[in-house]
Amino acid sequence: MSAFEYRHGQLHVEDLPLENIAQEVGTPFFCYSTQAMVNAYNSFSDALAKAGVKGTICYALKANSNQSVIQTLAKAGAGADVVSEGELRRALEAGVDPKKIVFAGVGKKPSEMAVGLKAGILQFNVESLPELEALSAVAQKMGVTAPVAFRINPDVDAKTHAKISTGKAENKFGIDIPSVRNFVEQAKVLPNIAVESLAVHIGSQLTDASPFKDAFARLASLYKELQNAGLPLKRIDFGGGLGIQYKDETPPDLSEYAQAVSEAMQGLDAECIFEPGRFLVGNAGVLVTETIYVKDGTNRRFLIIDAAMNDLIRPSLYDAWHDITPLKQPDANTSLTPCDIVGPICESGDTFATQRPLPEIAAGDLLAMESAGAYGAVMASSYNTRLNAPEILVKGDQYAIVRKRVDYDTLIKQDILPEWLSK
Ligand code: LLP
Repeated sequence: MSAFEYRHGQLHVEDLPLENIAQEVGTPFFCYSTQAMVNAYNSFSDALAKAGVKGTICYALKANSNQSVIQTLAKAGAGADVVSEGELRRALEAGVDPKKIVFAGVGKKPSEMAVGLKAGILQFNVESLPELEALSAVAQKMGVTAPVAFRINPDVDAKTHAKISTGKAENKFGIDIPSVRNFVEQAKVLPNIAVESLAVHIGSQLTDASPFKDAFARLASLYKELQNAGLPLKRIDFGGGLGIQYKDETPPDLSEYAQAVSEAMQGLDAECIFEPGRFLVGNAGVLVTETIYVKDGTNRRFLIIDAAMNDLIRPSLYDAWHDITPLKQPDANTSLTPCDIVGPICESGDTFATQRPLPEIAAGDLLAMESAGAYGAVMASSYNTRLNAPEILVKGDQYAIVRKRVDYDTLIKQDILPEWLSK
């Protein structure tokens, strides 16, 4: 059963009509379902168990780092994949076990490394020699050993949007396979470094299993080779990237994904790490918005809504599709009109959909932008001095505001006037 469905003619999230929440908190707002997140986590973990794979699911916080979301997943058993000191602090604050935290990203600063070392996290996914040297220096200064995974760049085409593809040689990510041996030699001479793991992440929103299979096979064969050469590796990190359905994609199902992992793990004795983000939260959230005006242009109808690209940038940035669903269930035989759904921001790029067939919508009607649980609120800004869309978490028939809408005063007062202007 989906967490978002029509009941009695109203779109519900779990046991609550979204319209009731809209009346109480105002629009636009993000709304997440606890049940959908926990179900996604459990199905991921069950699929791995069925395929005989043992591992830790380190939720990629970048997808949605609301404290309540992190804590919901941590309670279900998740660790965390973090990419900044901020995310690391969030994970620790949410009670994630440091031994289930991996620190990824190409540009960790020494100060950020120090926070991770102090917390005693599971591993740093290292992507360059200067980064390895910096980590060694910080660890030496602190008198601790840094657990390291080398993130490899397997040169595999993830067949996803270019802006979220990370595993090709021309991408800034990872270490190319021929250079890894050199990294291993360097690591031997650098103090306070323990190379324990290999990692890979080739991109996000993958809808085809074959790039996963290719990348995992390359990772596994390198793992064997280095282990045979005497490197005491103990973990293998398969990254994230599993796609979800936004429109009519058919992402690999979980058993196919788990099978790809299990095949790569044949003959390997290693703990596995996974870094899913979107899969756990993407379809667990919607962005609810109100239609402000219906504008009939020369040759098209615009629905001008109160959400904008500053709230959900994915359509503007990646031409991403999000289903747009009226909160009030339309009649089964209603006729559809193609509409452009646009926000109030002063850019033509502030468009959520073009020529999208929708039932008759009037000003004041509420709409849900679906699959907005991942890379929605976290990528929001206050462009055009718009207030943030608050975040709501639902569990059964209860809801809580888990991030409030700041007020204009707070927003404007973040700016500080220099003394010379106040004279
Ligand atoms: N691990 C690493 C090292 C990553 O870079 C990412 C995502 C993940 C895990 C999680 O990937 P996921 O399971 O969510 O696909 N803003 C874009 C997505 C950017 C993904 C960046 N890295 C979007 O809205 O589609």
